[in-house]
Amino acid sequence: MTTSSDMQTLMNRYGIVGRNEGLREALATAVLVAPTDLSVLIQGESGVGKEVIPRIIHDHSRRRGKTYIAINCGSIPEGTIDSELFGHEKGAFTSAIGEHEGYFGAADGGTLFLDEVGELPLSTQARLLRVLETGEYLRVGSSTPRKTDVRIVAATNVDIPNAIKQGRFREDLYYRLCTINIKIPPLRKRQGDAVLLFKKFALDTAQRYNIPEPIRLTPDAEAVVNSYKWPGNIRQLRNITEQLSILSESRSITPDMLAKHGITPNSDDDTGIATIGGSNTGSQHDYEQEIKILAHAVFELRSEVQELKEKMQGSKTWHNTSGSALPVPVSGQKNNASSSYHSLPNNLDIATAEEIVDDDTLNIGDMEKRNILLALQRNHYKRKLAAEELGISERTLYRKIKAYGIDE
Ligand SMILES: Nc1ncnc2c1ncn2[C@@H]1O[C@H](COP(=O)(O)OP(=O)(O)O)[C@@H](O)[C@H]1O
Ligand SMILES: [Mg+2]
Repeated sequence: MTTSSDMQTLMNRYGIVGRNEGLREALATAVLVAPTDLSVLIQGESGVGKEVIPRIIHDHSRRRGKTYIAINCGSIPEGTIDSELFGHEKGAFTSAIGEHEGYFGAADGGTLFLDEVGELPLSTQARLLRVLETGEYLRVGSSTPRKTDVRIVAATNVDIPNAIKQGRFREDLYYRLCTINIKIPPLRKRQGDAVLLFKKFALDTAQRYNIPEPIRLTPDAEAVVNSYKWPGNIRQLRNITEQLSILSESRSITPDMLAKHGITPNSDDDTGIATIGGSNTGSQHDYEQEIKILAHAVFELRSEVQELKEKMQGSKTWHNTSGSALPVPVSGQKNNASSSYHSLPNNLDIATAEEIVDDDTLNIGDMEKRNILLALQRNHYKRKLAAEELGISERTLYRKIKAYGIDE
């Protein structure tokens, strides 16, 4: 990385926005270490943008033409993780009908990204250490070592030295993994970047859903976005920008509208806790208010689905509030007619209009997904606390997050 224009080219290529020095240093380090085969450990809170780093490393290395595999260590059940990573022989365990190559075999010559490496069980950590030290591994049920040439990039949002103290992470593995350490700063430490990111996500969402005009922040709202702590970092900012883009009738976003999503100026409460649908009341959750909002959302969703259904039967267009037609978002056309339009229901992600019409009830899965989202938001995106509140294990919560495609 020699010039700032190289850096800009890199950021454009990967859709990364931000002026923060810490972020740019992290990107520059990724490019710098890419041609080596050194192991890299990426550290940063949840939602800071860790996942692009291993991709940059792979794409800038001699391995670029080979396999790149990203694995989320927290989402694989403990009972199968060794066989998923290292493979197994036929008959290694009751359900092992055939042999299985495993990611370390599959990624030979390429790069393996071990996301949430802090979640690896201790027994798997021992296997990983061995392959890092010797380039050899054993399939489950086999005593014949196999060779593999894999570059490891790992990421974690947990404080590994702390996990070491608690006996949950091997110290020797930690030192082996973090030959190169890349730290990504939290959003609250990137002065000014939150507003830039808001603009990017507002534009992206407008393009994705064919919304005629992206939302923008009033000067007061910009100040709020800048001073808010963003406990869920860029992921939280992106989700909120998407929600506002889709749900707000007005294209101009005020501090009041942000406050409805729990985004309030940095006041005496410096925890930056995001509560849904109300002012930030610290540790006291306003459940009653949340239930009201949920009930309202369900009601709105139902009536909108009904309305959509009727419209889809009549013509393939939606209508804005002033009566002119807006294209169905999947049609790929642009429409500049109006900045006021019917809201799309929240959290339907990329559901097409047809899918919305086909599924006219909010099913149990949708409700569960919403509950999980709410619990995560109430608990500052800390999975452990959210799992406790929901009365499920952290691993179960993790799997549900993945199964519902929730982007924390
Ligand atoms: N600087 C950035 N510019 C644009 N988008 C970003 C930036 N950092 C993160 N994102 C987006 O935020 C989301 C969360 O990032 P991710 O890499 O998944 O976070 P994590 O650190 O939890 O792995 C992703 O959708 C990612 O594309
Ligand atoms: Mg991640």
